[in-house]
Amino acid sequence: MAILNLLTAGLFLAGASSALPTTDLGSVHRASGCGKKAADVRLNRRITASLPSGRPYLFWVPPNYDPRKPTPLILSFHGATKTPDAQADLDLLTTPFFNTDHIVVYPSSGEYGANKGRYWQGAPQVPANVDDVGVVLDILDAMEARLCIDRARVYATGKSQGGLMTNNLACDPRSAARIAAFAPVSGSYYVNVTGPACDPLTLEFECHPQRAHVPLLIFHGGADQTINYTGGARSGECVPYIPHFVDAWAARDGVGGGSGSARREGPLPGAGDNATLYRYGDGPLEDLVEFVYDGDHVNHQWPATIVNADSIEYDSAPATFNASELIMGFFGRYNLGGRRSPRGSSWFW
Ligand SMILES: *[C@@H]1O[C@H](CO)[C@@H](O)[C@H](O)[C@H]1NC(C)=O
Ligand SMILES: *[C@@H]1O[C@H](CO)[C@@H](O)[C@H](O)[C@H]1NC(C)=O
Ligand SMILES: *[C@@H]1O[C@H](CO)[C@@H](O)[C@H](O)[C@H]1NC(C)=O
Ligand SMILES: *[C@@H]1O[C@H](CO)[C@@H](O)[C@H](O)[C@H]1NC(C)=O
Repeated sequence: MAILNLLTAGLFLAGASSALPTTDLGSVHRASGCGKKAADVRLNRRITASLPSGRPYLFWVPPNYDPRKPTPLILSFHGATKTPDAQADLDLLTTPFFNTDHIVVYPSSGEYGANKGRYWQGAPQVPANVDDVGVVLDILDAMEARLCIDRARVYATGKSQGGLMTNNLACDPRSAARIAAFAPVSGSYYVNVTGPACDPLTLEFECHPQRAHVPLLIFHGGADQTINYTGGARSGECVPYIPHFVDAWAARDGVGGGSGSARREGPLPGAGDNATLYRYGDGPLEDLVEFVYDGDHVNHQWPATIVNADSIEYDSAPATFNASELIMGFFGRYNLGGRRSPRGSSWFW
C-alpha cells in the first residue's frame, strides 16, 4: 500500500509537456463535492443510498477521508442475483488489509422477472434497451457532488455479471472517458448469438471505447464451472474462450493480441505454480492489459487465499493469491491521463 501513498503525494497531469505541481491540477482532479463538510456521511461504515430513480447503491468512505483532499473511488459490481453487501464481503475492499484510502461504491443492478433477480446490462435476463452504464455514471455524479472525489482516479471491478458490467463500462465511450482502469473477475462476457455463430474462439464483441489505451486486469479460473474458461453457449447466448476475450482487448488497445510479440507469460509472483500472469504491451504501454489465469483448480470465485462466500458456494479450494491485492496494485499504476512513471512522480503514456 506504500505505492498508493506515493501516488497521492505526487499527482501530475499526464500529457502535459512539463510536470505541473499538484496544486495546479485542482480543477482537473477535484469534484464539486470538495470542501463540503459532508456531515451526513459517516466514515468507515457501509452507507445505503439511492438515485432519484430508486436505483440503490452502497458506499463506504475510508476513515482518513478529508473533504479538502481529492480521494480516489472504486466501483465494485456484484454478480447475478447477488447484492452490494455480498460483493463488499467478497472483495474486502472496505477492510484496511486491502484499502485504506479509496472510497468504494457498490451499485445494485436492476431487478427482473417474478423473482426480482438482479442482473446487469448485457446479460440474457436483461432487456436490450437497459442502460446500466448511464445509471452508474449517475451514481458517480451523485458521489462527486457529495464527496471530494479525485475524478482522474475512478476505477471499476466486479465479479461474474459484475465483470460483464465492468467490461460494459470499459467498452462504452461515456464511461471509458471517466474511469481510469478496469478489473473484471470471472466475467460472463455475453454476446447475443446462438448456433454455429457461437464460436468461442472467434466471437466478435460490441466494444467501442473511443479511447486509445484502456488499462485492464482480467481474472479467470481454469475450473470455472459457471462461466467456463473455454466458453460456449450459455443461457441462450454465447460466452467467449477467455484467452480470446483477453486477446481482443489487447488488439483493441494496440498492444498485440494473439501470439503477438508484446505478450509475456510467467508464473504469477507469489502464487506458487498455480496461477499464470500474461502481460501485454511494451515501453510506456507496458502491462496495459494483464490476464491472471487463476489456476487449474480455481472455480467461479473471487480469488482469495482465505475461505470466502464463493469458495463455499462453489465448493472450491481457496486460490493461492488475493485478487484484491493485485487489483489495488494495478489501479494504483493508472489515472485517467495514463500510467505512473517508474519514478512515481508523473503520469504518461
Ligand atoms: C437476443 O437476440 C434475439 C434475436 O435477435 C432477440 O430476440 C433478443 O431480444 C436478444 N436478447 C437480448 C437480451 O438482447
Ligand atoms: C468446460 O467446457 C469443456 C467443453 O465443453 C468441458 O470439457 C469442461 O469440462 C468444462 N469445464 C468445466 C470446469 O466445466
Ligand atoms: C496448487 O497447486 C498444487 C500443486 O499442483 C495443488 O496441489 C493445489 O491443489 C493447487 N491449489 C490451488 C488452489 O489451485
Ligand atoms: C489474503 O488476504 C487475507 C485477508 O483478507 C489475509 O489474511 C491473507 O494473509 C492474504 N494472503 C496473502 C498471500 O497475502
